[in-house]
Amino acid sequence: MERQSARPRRTLCFLFVLARAEAQHSVRAGWPAERRISGCFPGDMGDYPRHVQLKHKGEPDGGDGAQVVLRRLRHEEIGALAQSLAGDPTEAQLENRWREQQVGFRELLVAEVDGALVGTVSISETELLPRALHLFALEVAPPWRNRGIGASIVRQVVSEAKRRRRGRVYLEVRVDNPARRLYHRLGFRRLGEPFVNPWWRYLDDGRQERVEELSLRMVRRVTLRD
Ligand SMILES: CC(C)(COP(=O)(O)OP(=O)(O)OC[C@H]1O[C@@H](n2cnc3c(N)ncnc32)[C@H](O)[C@@H]1OP(=O)(O)O)[C@@H](O)C(=O)NCCC(=O)NCCS
Repeated sequence: MERQSARPRRTLCFLFVLARAEAQHSVRAGWPAERRISGCFPGDMGDYPRHVQLKHKGEPDGGDGAQVVLRRLRHEEIGALAQSLAGDPTEAQLENRWREQQVGFRELLVAEVDGALVGTVSISETELLPRALHLFALEVAPPWRNRGIGASIVRQVVSEAKRRRRGRVYLEVRVDNPARRLYHRLGFRRLGEPFVNPWWRYLDDGRQERVEELSLRMVRRVTLRD
């Protein structure tokens, strides 16, 4: 009985901590959302790059296809990655992510299959959710989608969280993004109510535009024991 009644209290407490952290971040007016995570550190990349089998189209999981390698992006690859992602994000956006990496706001990773740059994801050791690894800016190049690359990237980030002894992986997703299904399939669960998520889009002509998206928070627990 006692354990049951403690649960809602724990959830409330957790949401309170989250709301307080958000309020602190909002004080940093004018910061693009991609930079609004404080207290994150580049971290060491351990045994990156990682290698995971890619399933071929129509093949069950784990076929003997090519491997998805997740590793740090090199600066000279930004143009090629933007091209592979069909300009979404733009090259300017990726350059901004690079700058954010330099000041410790994210680690900018690239997924590679047989030498082709097929996707990207960013991670940071956020304090938005204590002891969590934040997964964000996940994109797979359009021709490579629906082959398990997105799932492979997410799983590799979860492994990285475990390696860093982070008990949760945290992400934010637009309420109408079909990627929610992918995250749910991979064990992420919705946390709290939708919220307006502001961020800045960097355009190739040098302009920036503010984007506001109704988003959800999702969290996946990481088993730290082997
Ligand atoms: C989301 C995304 C990274 C998935 O990559 P992927 O390599 O196709 O992923 P997988 O092959 O492992 O899994 C496919 C899943 O993508 C999701 N998906 C399908 N179409 C999608 C779309 N147009 N947009 C977003 N997600 C989609 C589905 O959940 C699908 O899962 P299902 O097979 O259970 O239906 C990719 O669709 C993408 O880059 N979308 C645009 C950017 C984006 O929305 N990123 C997520 C931000 S939170």
